[in-house]
Amino acid sequence: MAATASRSFSRALRTAAPTFRTTSTRSSARFVAAPHQAFRQQWRRGYASQEGGDKYEGNPRGMLWGAGALVAIAGGYGLYTQKPEWFGQEVKAKGVFQPRFEDYQKVYDAIAKKLEDEDEYDDGSYGPVVLRLAWHCSGTYDKETNTGGSNGATMRFAPESDHGANAGLKAARDFLEPIKEQFPWISYSDLWILGGVCAIQEMQGPKIPYRPGRQDRDVSFCTPDGRLPDASKDRKHIRAIFGRMGFNDQQMVALCGAHALGRCHTDRSGYDGPWTFSPTTMTNDYYKLLLEEKWAWRKWNGPKQFQDVKTKSLMMLPTDMELVKDKSFRQYAEKYAKDNDAFFKDFSEAVLTLFELGVPFTQSEDQRWVFKSSFDE
Ligand code: HEM
Repeated sequence: MAATASRSFSRALRTAAPTFRTTSTRSSARFVAAPHQAFRQQWRRGYASQEGGDKYEGNPRGMLWGAGALVAIAGGYGLYTQKPEWFGQEVKAKGVFQPRFEDYQKVYDAIAKKLEDEDEYDDGSYGPVVLRLAWHCSGTYDKETNTGGSNGATMRFAPESDHGANAGLKAARDFLEPIKEQFPWISYSDLWILGGVCAIQEMQGPKIPYRPGRQDRDVSFCTPDGRLPDASKDRKHIRAIFGRMGFNDQQMVALCGAHALGRCHTDRSGYDGPWTFSPTTMTNDYYKLLLEEKWAWRKWNGPKQFQDVKTKSLMMLPTDMELVKDKSFRQYAEKYAKDNDAFFKDFSEAVLTLFELGVPFTQSEDQRWVFKSSFDE
């Protein structure tokens, strides 16, 4: 039922967001033609000056040299047009490759296959940690200064990679590295977000429309520590962090539904355990469990976290619990607990916004792409 609804939602999205195809042929033709023209002009200029200048003074050896030079130039020109790589043009010729939807779908497929193949990790999938990488790139955005966000992939560098909140995300970056080697034309920043999109869809979540256009930036664009949420804090902190990115209460609650996926690791955040019984499948169980289960402080030698009273196998962070304690947050948690389709729709929209924060796209909003999942007919 939920799957059918999500499929029809994805179909609707696909119709609403027609596939965008770039027109590369014209610009690439112009790019390659330009040096030819320059060469032709130079050659013409040289020839013209010869014409009006030196007179023939009866020196046949000079004539022979001249003819030889002409042959050499003509031969060189022929070679230049036939073998541009001999003239250092290969790199430029490759530079005009303009990836299209089909090329990004290939990257998506390669990530999906790798997620499927490497099922020994954690609860059987790298999906959750790959999604967390995409969120932590994007979640540094500050709307006042228009800094941070997924453009740049600055988490490749210390200090950002060493920020406490990013502990453990090396696993996701390393997971995506062979994909970058296979498709060197994609920027790390576009790849990491595509990884997040792929992880959500492959874990049976909603479709997340996508636009490329992020460019990798250097270490000077690393954001200061403290921009990501602290799980030990309260509603004021949640609103301050997500408000800085430009989100409202409804979007904050929808985004946190990602905790249906994955788990906490004592050697990363210090917290321990999964939020749901199916941590590699996207569902609205996070809200259902938050509202329906009895939760108590876990008695242990770690940071303060909640434990479900019945099975003692699930956990909630203090920030998770705020979503049912705060009246405004709670109305959305209740809505999503009752209606998986409403959750998927709002989650998709909020994640799309999150992944695009601060990115100077050239491709317009109605030119987003929707990737085919590995299980789509
Ligand atoms: C108040 C907001 C949030 C807080 C305080 C928070 C905190 C945390 C913490 C402490 C972990 C455990 C990390 C570890 O030990 O490996 C975690 C994991 C995770 N978070 Fe969040 N998070 C928040 C919002 C979000 C959002 C908005 C998303 C995505 C849209 C998200 C996606 C995830 C995922 C998928 C994992 C599992 C990672 C894994 O299994 O390795 N979180 N989060």
